[in-house]
Amino acid sequence: MTELIPMNEQNYRDAAAIEQVCFTDDPWSEAQFAEELSLDFSRTFIAYFDGRAAGFVNVWLTPPLAIINNIGVLPEFRRQGIASELIKAAVSVCEGCSSLSLEVRVSNEPAIGLYKKHGFSQVGLRKRFYSNPREDAYIMTLFKLKGESAND
Ligand SMILES: CC(C)(COP(=O)(O)OP(=O)(O)OC[C@H]1O[C@@H](n2cnc3c(N)ncnc32)[C@H](O)[C@@H]1OP(=O)(O)O)[C@@H](O)C(=O)NCCC(=O)NCCS
Repeated sequence: MTELIPMNEQNYRDAAAIEQVCFTDDPWSEAQFAEELSLDFSRTFIAYFDGRAAGFVNVWLTPPLAIINNIGVLPEFRRQGIASELIKAAVSVCEGCSSLSLEVRVSNEPAIGLYKKHGFSQVGLRKRFYSNPREDAYIMTLFKLKGESAND
């Protein structure tokens, strides 16, 4: 069973640990996750699967735009719908925002598939956006936010 819990002073290290496994390109440190707690425009949800930290999503609310900075699920918990639950949680806190955007590596088929499933469209390309390894990014955006996933 998956439970989503807002990140707090007690569990932010769980998000940092997932980040270290999921990302090679300048992953956020524990200190950066702790700092997110102090930002009034930042929301992070951590997914617990049978009590074990499995994934997280971080979103910034800067009306009229919202931005997903990062979403990750540990390899052993993938393909069970956890990222989908996290996307829905991110969308649910986007009140006052008309769109939700993110960047994704052009080779990241799992993530691109996830975003398309939830109604995101490719709206642009950022050349050489990523390092380690160097790669372009698609900009993907979900329009017409209604407080629920476009997939619902
Ligand atoms: C991308 C990621 C978050 C997906 O997490 P997940 O919990 O496995 O995703 P879900 O189980 O919710 O999958 C939802 C949909 O995403 C797509 N998807 C997920 N994994 C996929 C894969 N390996 N190949 C193709 N499509 C995939 C599918 O459309 C899937 O729907 P389906 O299961 O009905 O086919 C996970 O693979 C991950 O953490 N990757 C490393 C970090 C990363 O790349 N984050 C995104 C940065 S932009």
